[in-house]
Amino acid sequence: MYQRIYRMLMLFPVLLLTGTLVLHAQPVKPFYMDENHPLEERVKNALSLMTLEEKVALCHAQSKFSSKGVPRLGIPEVWMSDGPHGVREEILWDSWNEAKWTNDSCTAFPALTCLAATWNPEMSAIYGKAVGEEARYRNKSVLLGPGVNIYRTPMNGRNFEYMGEDPYLASRMVVPYIVEVQKNGVAACVKHYALNNQEIWRGHINVELSDRALREIYLPAFKAAVTEAKVWSVMGSYNQFRGEHCCHNDILLNKILKQEWRFDGTVITDWGGAHNTMQAALNGLDIEMGTGTDGMTRSVKNAYDNYYLALPFLDELKKGTVPESVVNDKASRILRMIFRTAMNSKRPIGSFASPEHAKVARKVAEEGIVLLKNTGNLLPLDASKYQKIAVIGENATRKMSAGGGSSNLKPHLEISPLKGLQTKYGSKINYAMGYASGPPAYGRAIPSKLNADSVRTEAVKVAGAADVVIFVGGLNKNHNQDCEGGDRLSYNLPFGQDQLLNEILKVNKNVVVVLITGNAVAMPWIDRVQALVQAWYLGSEAGNAIASVLSGDVNPSGKLPFTFPVKLSDNSAHSFDKLCYPGDSIREVYKDDILVGYRWHDTKKIMPLFAFGYGLSYTNFTISAPQTDKKTYEKNEVVKLNFTVQNTGKLAGAEIAQVYVTQKNAPVLRPTKELKGFKKVFLKAGEQQTLTIPVKVEDMAYWDEKTSNWKVDSGEFVLNLATSAGDVKFTLPVQVK
Ligand code: GLC
Repeated sequence: MYQRIYRMLMLFPVLLLTGTLVLHAQPVKPFYMDENHPLEERVKNALSLMTLEEKVALCHAQSKFSSKGVPRLGIPEVWMSDGPHGVREEILWDSWNEAKWTNDSCTAFPALTCLAATWNPEMSAIYGKAVGEEARYRNKSVLLGPGVNIYRTPMNGRNFEYMGEDPYLASRMVVPYIVEVQKNGVAACVKHYALNNQEIWRGHINVELSDRALREIYLPAFKAAVTEAKVWSVMGSYNQFRGEHCCHNDILLNKILKQEWRFDGTVITDWGGAHNTMQAALNGLDIEMGTGTDGMTRSVKNAYDNYYLALPFLDELKKGTVPESVVNDKASRILRMIFRTAMNSKRPIGSFASPEHAKVARKVAEEGIVLLKNTGNLLPLDASKYQKIAVIGENATRKMSAGGGSSNLKPHLEISPLKGLQTKYGSKINYAMGYASGPPAYGRAIPSKLNADSVRTEAVKVAGAADVVIFVGGLNKNHNQDCEGGDRLSYNLPFGQDQLLNEILKVNKNVVVVLITGNAVAMPWIDRVQALVQAWYLGSEAGNAIASVLSGDVNPSGKLPFTFPVKLSDNSAHSFDKLCYPGDSIREVYKDDILVGYRWHDTKKIMPLFAFGYGLSYTNFTISAPQTDKKTYEKNEVVKLNFTVQNTGKLAGAEIAQVYVTQKNAPVLRPTKELKGFKKVFLKAGEQQTLTIPVKVEDMAYWDEKTSNWKVDSGEFVLNLATSAGDVKFTLPVQVK
């Protein structure tokens, strides 16, 4: 008896120790969760543990902006959010209504047209870092941006979200943005792949174009995003290309994106962009997002189960009409993205609506604003010279971060142009609205109830009584006015602005026009205004940035990322027939082909109002002594173009030197010249710097449709060293062996 009690007592500490050890021993981490293992091994391991149903569940939405993870394995959901220039406010689970949270008022960064207009990849890096930190802080795994669709026509409602008309500029400017967003453990989602260059009929228009135009104009920025920035997700576009919807298009997704460019990330539809289960299964789509059963706007019970990549897809897999390898590839890509984002324990925690981010928004805005005219040096506006400064125009007070469609934002802060000018010039400012556009509305334009004549008359009076007038006009992200879901209906400024400007110019000759647009517009009054500034949708710090530039606190250094034609018919897409733009409602043929933007104006010798790459400064620069390091190059070499830039004025400023390449006696039609290098240099008054712009000979290639490959001919090329597409300073011949 006593022995048994003794043994029991002796056993107790052993049991206690064992129990403690067991309780405290780290649970063995599943292989796929152990970040010490290589990513691909973890993906394979997780996949091997998943059921067919779990794999299919990864491939479609579970709510407006999320798709499933694998709860049983502790693999989190994928949360996505718009947009390219700021993190959209929270949207409800299964409606487009805002969730009305009180902690999701973000930093509104300038729209990407402004970022492109800085021509400064370093700006793109600090921008991507900041917007990535905000997406991270809001716990989003995917930021649905940047957009890089080429600016083909000034009528496209969404050009403001993109990076202009030139594939080389867009390529250089999109890479740092993506790299820096993704350092936050947030996937960028480059969009809309591809050929979504208008909003009219965007859901189905079947775009046809040559392989050369596709390769040389419309794909390069996406290729750079994938092959250089290693973007983790790509959004398919709504439209069709050669008869297949781009969200499940064999050529674009399987052949080019995943095979040729070796994309290892996730293809996500635009919302409602899937239309067919077998195509969605076999043509490279990975996650179907949308708003109803087939991704359309209907929301019915268990809608998400009826998505093309939901139960219908599971049925095909069970029937064996689609091999399991297909869903394994999709699931692997989605797991890879989840491991890179939500399951990356090393990712930073981000930050949101911070003073630092406001500074980034202001810096990008100040560097992206373009000074287009300044006769008589009316600018910079020296406050001491004026008693009364009139600010006229509804865009001086309008909240521009709202509207525009899916990229609209609820900013923590938005300094209007008027506010910024009042801060700078105080009580000298008198404001009058001048014109009225009506309330923001998506999908339709609601006219203002105000009497246009009285609003205009009041403004003309204020203008007549002032020493100088700052007219703040443009478009305003209302429907048909730089907004998703519709194109512009006129190349002219809307809401009677031209008439208002004409009347102001009759009573005051000192007029500065500040245009807030994402597109080129007609300017019938251009010869009569003294100064013109192209200010983009600038976001939270808009007013401060505009005031900084107009006052000379900041010397403008932006240059246009797209051409401003004098009239619409000077633009390439509007030089043919309806089929060329906007199409016949079924199909559209890009008859302008590779001659888009300045390529068109150069080749057809049509003088633009303002050229691609054009922008003035408050100081002056000279470029001199250009030379190439050699005269003849092999096809795998890089031309080094050296030259000196001097700031010959009295103010510090920045110049953007541009290099365009011309092929002499090309065997195929080629644009007169194409941008293949640029560099922005900041110089103090009087300072000079010798710069080198590298131009890769391989970038001088064209797409050879006979061999379906890039080709650099041997022979003579010319490097055009310029300060805009309309101002070539030097031409330097080089030979390619
Ligand atoms: C919209 C837009 C796309 C956006 C998505 C989610 O239709 O085309 O850019 O990211 O749907 O809002």
